[in-house]
Amino acid sequence: MPKTTVSVIKADVGSFPGHSRTHPKLLERASKMLKKEEGGLLIDSFVTHCGDDVELIMTHNRGIDNAEIHELAFNVFMELTQIAKEMKLYGAGQDMLSDAFSGNVKGMGPGVAEMEFEERGSDPVLIFMADKTEPGAWNFYLYKIFADPFNTSGLVIDPTMHTGFVFEVHDLIDKRMIRFSTPEDSYSLLAYIGAPSRYVVKGVWRKDGIIAAATSTQRLNMLAGRYVGKDDPVMIVRAQSGLPSVGCVLEPFSIPTIVAGWMRGSHHGPFMPVGLCDANCTRFDGPPRVICLGYQVSNGKLIGPADMFDDVAFDRVRSKCNELADMLRDMGPFEPHRLSLDEMEYTTLPDVEKQLKDRWVPLVE
Ligand code: F6R
Ligand code: MG
Ligand code: MG
Repeated sequence: MPKTTVSVIKADVGSFPGHSRTHPKLLERASKMLKKEEGGLLIDSFVTHCGDDVELIMTHNRGIDNAEIHELAFNVFMELTQIAKEMKLYGAGQDMLSDAFSGNVKGMGPGVAEMEFEERGSDPVLIFMADKTEPGAWNFYLYKIFADPFNTSGLVIDPTMHTGFVFEVHDLIDKRMIRFSTPEDSYSLLAYIGAPSRYVVKGVWRKDGIIAAATSTQRLNMLAGRYVGKDDPVMIVRAQSGLPSVGCVLEPFSIPTIVAGWMRGSHHGPFMPVGLCDANCTRFDGPPRVICLGYQVSNGKLIGPADMFDDVAFDRVRSKCNELADMLRDMGPFEPHRLSLDEMEYTTLPDVEKQLKDRWVPLVE
């Protein structure tokens, strides 16, 4: 059997009203375009959205970073941009930083998470998609899933997982990469990934080389050199049979965490796990939210999806997130609801400061 590749490629190419949700016409067109490729370029596909982001889930045999797969995603987003412009959707084409494809959609605006693997006897795969936050939002969850024995019982009990995992961490500012082995490097790993605006977990492998997780790490504002919303990341996680179980992969999402993003990509807010029917951003353009679709991957076919957060078991975390949202919102424009000044560099705040710069006068000591 050839190896299977799962590619999740996403972009915000316009939404309604404002930045709250994608339009069904965009999803319909994208689904049709991908369906046409099934049996050729693709084995299977599924199109959904989280907030204002269109999510293309594709399986194929062409490996990661494949130019034809990336070009297909690029063409879908360009076509959707056209439809979005005709309807005057908000932010039509906002993530498409260039209208000429250059071999890889990475660096052109869309977010990309891909993994290639030899299918096991049975291969459960979970796909997480977020809106109104940044790629580092996954750091906490990936640590809990693959390195915290209080979350993942298999780290203690299952001999195939007992040796631990390898985390690849990217430094998004200095453009460098480092690998950490857990449990032995756990504290060093945390020293970096506890700062998720800069250090981002790109992938996780079992120590025998089996790939377990892959994320998107594109920082839109850095690519564009101007504010274009947050990156709204995606993540693929494999589960079971010597990897954390589906339940252990979902377990850390019962903890309410605070992430950067929300209104104008400029605020900290609770990261709320929701079912697909709630994957629409409303209050203060949020709060930041995450959906999860579960599949069995069978010879490249996507058996599913199951809407994993559509469950009363996540009601309590949602309620805690709403409480945190109230608490943070009460702070209005003050930190730590508003992001720290170094993170605000990638927002529209510097433009306000430019307007005010001549009103400052030096202090005479
Ligand atoms: C967040 C996001 C929105 C906008 C906000 C202002 O990623 O995209 O919160 O930043 O709605 O948008 P403009 O400036 O276009 O009115
Ligand atoms: Mg938007
Ligand atoms: Mg978005």
